[in-house]
Amino acid sequence: MTSIAVIVGSTREGSFNLMLGDLAAASLAAQGAALTRVDLATFDLPLYSAALEANDFPPDAQRLKDIFAAQDGLLFVSPEYNGSLPPLLKNAIDWASRPTGGEGLVALTAYRGKAAAIMSASISPFGGLRGLMHLRQILSTIQMLVIPEQVVVPNAHAAFAEDGSLKEALPASLVEMTTGRLVAVARALSG
Ligand SMILES: Cc1cc2nc3c(=O)[nH]c(=O)nc-3n(C[C@H](O)[C@H](O)[C@H](O)COP(=O)(O)O)c2cc1C
Repeated sequence: MTSIAVIVGSTREGSFNLMLGDLAAASLAAQGAALTRVDLATFDLPLYSAALEANDFPPDAQRLKDIFAAQDGLLFVSPEYNGSLPPLLKNAIDWASRPTGGEGLVALTAYRGKAAAIMSASISPFGGLRGLMHLRQILSTIQMLVIPEQVVVPNAHAAFAEDGSLKEALPASLVEMTTGRLVAVARALSG
């Protein structure tokens, strides 16, 4: 079974990206993926510091890295902050990129050679597109294969129906298309 973790870059109550993450997770599960939800609110991740890393690698950074390392693919769903990704998500990605247990400097065991997909919901008419461009570049830098399909949900404050579904057919179909390709590529790469 193909394992995929869903990581959302917002812990805000009522977060539109958490809502989008719920839809994507349901779609991944429907396509047969073994799903892990990563709730960053449940990880005690200090801001990355070399001193902390050297003296006392945070247990939750190791826990996050272990979860990522166990997956065939990762789906990141993130807001855009000032044209980029939020520090919450960048910090989590950075901690899990660090070598542990005698690994080489660029072992990147949580990421290397795995499939990734990216999605964003934002209250702007651009749907967080600029943040996704940065996120795509970062994930490529850490040796992930980021699939070309992606999802932006513009005007997120008006995009979701009462039941959490997307009102517009286009972003809803893009969620299905993106999760479908992610599962297929993650399966092919892990085989
Ligand atoms: C510090 C900060 C910067 C933001 N910058 C942007 C931005 O550049 N583009 C954008 O579309 N929305 C921006 N927003 C608005 C977010 O899209 C909005 O807060 C969104 O609801 C956050 O996602 P969430 O609902 O998942 O928490 C920003 C919000 C914050 C707090």
